[in-house]
Amino acid sequence: MQNIQAGILVEGTKLARYLEFSVDSEADVKTALQALVAKDVTENMVVGIGQSLLDLLGKNVLGLRTMQAKTGSGIELPSTPAAIWCWLRGTDRGEIFHRSRQIENILAPGFAITNVIDSFQYDANRDLSGYEDGTENPQGDDAIHAAIVQDQGEGLDGGSFVAVQQWLHDFEVLDAMSTKQQDDAIGRHISDNEEFDEAPESAHVKRSAQENFEPEAFMLRRSMPWAEGMDAGLVFVAFGHSFTAFEMILDHMLGKDDTVTDALFTFTRPVSGAYFWCPPVKAGKLDLGAIDF
Ligand code: HEM
Repeated sequence: MQNIQAGILVEGTKLARYLEFSVDSEADVKTALQALVAKDVTENMVVGIGQSLLDLLGKNVLGLRTMQAKTGSGIELPSTPAAIWCWLRGTDRGEIFHRSRQIENILAPGFAITNVIDSFQYDANRDLSGYEDGTENPQGDDAIHAAIVQDQGEGLDGGSFVAVQQWLHDFEVLDAMSTKQQDDAIGRHISDNEEFDEAPESAHVKRSAQENFEPEAFMLRRSMPWAEGMDAGLVFVAFGHSFTAFEMILDHMLGKDDTVTDALFTFTRPVSGAYFWCPPVKAGKLDLGAIDF
């Protein structure tokens, strides 16, 4: 489909940078957005718009909302909304840095950067825990079906909704676990990436098995490891035609329905969480027709 931000569907990128912006000067927001819309959208950039910006513009996009903070047993998941989210993909850290300065300049009159995370591919798409991530992602038409809005009308079709959480791993805890304990936490063998039936109910892949939900909860995960100094973890990024699949799985990870907590939480926690609407594309530019822009 021509009207999808291509970076959502294109698999794998060696390096990336995530930028978040908040409104800095209300009077200049429209000028800044016009400059953003004038920019070509290539597969090297995915843009998302947050609820706070729509509120300022007095607009709504059916399906977008603010991520709610959630709790589980001894677990707090934060909500850290932003006005604009930008995922810059590439292969050269210097080029990505300069591209991020360009986006900062384009948005500068109306928006200020509030968060920057540099990320990278580890081996063949491993999380820094060592486990391969993304194996059960839907492919081809199934990916489009899971991630892209369809049959909702012009301005919405081709768009997507993205959930973004920065997770911080505790490597001391992970290192203290035996390989069996780690495999049990994920529900796959690190040695061959195979799922195993005898994994406990708390295993992450049992909590998140997409086809076991009613309705099925497929999403397109495009997560990437991040590291800054000696802190590191995963930027979890999941695109969906709505946030329903993400919320159903997160609630099951938190044991909302059966009090079993996902074993992932023993060694990692999210330190941020936000939802964005990724508008469709028209003639190679962001299409903000849904919000009359
Ligand atoms: C630091 C956080 C996380 C890590 C390290 C992680 C890691 C993994 C790994 C290693 C797999 C197995 C391979 C694969 O199919 O990709 C997996 C599967 C999956 N994860 Fe996560 N995950 C994290 C957070 C989340 C969150 C927050 C969600 C959604 C709310 C989620 C949803 C899924 C789904 C849907 C699958 C595929 C399950 C299936 O259908 O078999 N993950 N994850």
